[in-house]
Amino acid sequence: MCGICCVVSLSPQSLVLADRVQKNLINRGPDNSQDVTRTVINTDFKCLFSAHVLQMRGCLTPQPLQDSAGNLLLWNGEVFGGLEVGPEENDTVVLLEHLSAQEDATGICSVLSRVRGPWAFVYYQVAEHCIWFGRDYFGRRSLLWHLDPEDVILTLTSVASCLLICDQSQWHEVPAAGVYRLDLKDCASHRKKLTIEVFPWVTTDDHPTAHTPDYTWEDLPTYATIVPNLCGVFLQSPVCPMNMSMSAPERPLGNVQSPKLSLEDLEELLKQSENVEKVTKLIEVLSEAVRRRVQSLPSRRLFVEQSGLNNEADIAILFSGGIDSMILAVLADRHVSAGKPIDLLNVAFKLQETKMQTQSAKKDRMPKKDQTDEHPKQRDHNLTRCFDVPDRITGRAGLIELQHLSPERQWNFVEINITPDELKRMRQERISHLVHPLDTVLDDSIGCAVWFAARGIGMSMDCAEQKPHTSTAKVVLTGIGADEQLAGYSRHRVRFKSDGMEGLVKELAMELGRISSRNLGRDDRVIGDHGKEGRFPYLDEDVVSFLNQLPVWEKADLTLPRGLGEKLLLRLAAKKLGLGPAAILPKRAMQFGSRIAKMENGREKASDKCKRLVTE
Ligand SMILES: *[C@@H]1O[C@H](CO)[C@@H](O)[C@H](O)[C@H]1NC(C)=O
Ligand SMILES: *[C@@H]1O[C@H](CO)[C@@H](O)[C@H](O)[C@H]1NC(C)=O
Ligand SMILES: *[C@@H]1O[C@H](CO)[C@@H](O)[C@H](O)[C@H]1NC(C)=O
Repeated sequence: MCGICCVVSLSPQSLVLADRVQKNLINRGPDNSQDVTRTVINTDFKCLFSAHVLQMRGCLTPQPLQDSAGNLLLWNGEVFGGLEVGPEENDTVVLLEHLSAQEDATGICSVLSRVRGPWAFVYYQVAEHCIWFGRDYFGRRSLLWHLDPEDVILTLTSVASCLLICDQSQWHEVPAAGVYRLDLKDCASHRKKLTIEVFPWVTTDDHPTAHTPDYTWEDLPTYATIVPNLCGVFLQSPVCPMNMSMSAPERPLGNVQSPKLSLEDLEELLKQSENVEKVTKLIEVLSEAVRRRVQSLPSRRLFVEQSGLNNEADIAILFSGGIDSMILAVLADRHVSAGKPIDLLNVAFKLQETKMQTQSAKKDRMPKKDQTDEHPKQRDHNLTRCFDVPDRITGRAGLIELQHLSPERQWNFVEINITPDELKRMRQERISHLVHPLDTVLDDSIGCAVWFAARGIGMSMDCAEQKPHTSTAKVVLTGIGADEQLAGYSRHRVRFKSDGMEGLVKELAMELGRISSRNLGRDDRVIGDHGKEGRFPYLDEDVVSFLNQLPVWEKADLTLPRGLGEKLLLRLAAKKLGLGPAAILPKRAMQFGSRIAKMENGREKASDKCKRLVTE
């Protein structure tokens, strides 16, 4: 993860970044910071390129990276494939070599189309006086922009802050609709009017000449316009288009009639030969996606040799014990070297007293002995119990399954317990700035839950004793993308009920299309704040292509009961990987599973603007 920032301005004074923004950028890239200022020839423009690097692989490559011609690259990404990067080479260096060898837009777009992996970038093409920028197809890395008619005409940054710079100024996420080009020569001759060209992503079956970007450029200030590029150049989408086929055969997945589902039902389905093949293939692509993400790691060799320490995990997983995170854990276990622990990060928000009482009242309807006597450890017990949220309980059960499947592995189940006070303090100090410019109640809940989980400070079992544990893993795997692609949310059932297969397919296509603006930019900013990198195996290009080419009824069968029908294909994969009860857990959204949503006003709607995110 890196923090990158570029400011284009007419006045040298305004090239100074706000402290808060600077600090947020440094959090993302604590290993090396460097600024480069350029004056654009024959114009009054000054550009600041500010880079803050987190060293992930190979040796440290400071940025902004410059070539002999003066081209300059800010790269916040990982090349997991598409371009050849040798084991001793650095992807930033390789990418700049490719970019600077290109003379025109076609060349630049073809290089970017080839990259597999998450990225956001800014590239200054010196000969053309152009600034290129953008995010990968899914928007897995954050990039914000701020457009202004006055001195500072354009600011791009990985992360901003919610303190307003001046009244009308506003940050927005750069839409992951393509890459963009700002021609500074052209800008200099049309003062007060900013034109940015877009080079949109197209999928293979789009007819390029017929394609107009169907993105609506919301909230753009009036002096700025985004125009399709005049040369008619496009980026090739890295994934195949979604299979929109609707004509499902009758009951393609057998005859599971029982309203009460069981593992035997899954086993039955797994026996059908057409399922076996798909499940095997899914495990294969997902396993490879996880391998790429756990094996490209910071080299700790030197550190380990010096300190003699080797018992710290390099890989952490946001872990609820649900099927998405369980599968990631099982696959990570295949590829992380045997002697290394894996951190399972499990976050819980404290239940309020009254809520706890109603909870235990419910449970206590079944008389239980141990609660009637005062236990000597009652107090401790009570203290932990107020963090026994649903995800904690499924998390512990998941841990037991993992220990059973891979007993040699050291699994660190990190119990991260957050009190209302700490939530309030950190939201105010840090999280609200990271979530910005997103602003709903849901953004607040997920943003806070992911921030605390990824920070990785909690307790874990060590020799039968709970001890403080701080996860130092720089790579954090998350299960984002599984529900969107395999119909895991309850709204998918609603849609299926009302509009059938057609409605469901459209819903899934729409959700995958907006995942950058709904989730990924935010999650990247929130995880990156800890100097860690969020990686999303379910959004690997090969995984998405595999799932996209399947008709929807092979991914989910919403005529089957909850806990089975949604994400059916993934459940079959879980079963095949040897998982038991976790394979049939119904989906529970993180804001409910961690109980953060319960801490706040229960009458809020998830889509309401969240007042708690507003900072003075
Ligand atoms: C290249 O160097 C940067 C900065 O040190 C680092 O973040 C990145 O992971 C490196 N990439 C490779 C492939 O070595
Ligand atoms: C622990 O909880 C029980 C009821 O669940 C309560 O009666 C008891 O007073 C609590 N003990 C402490 C020390 O809080
Ligand atoms: C979509 O799925 C159907 C049914 O399996 C299949 O026949 C068709 O080839 C698929 N289409 C694409 C583009 O993969």
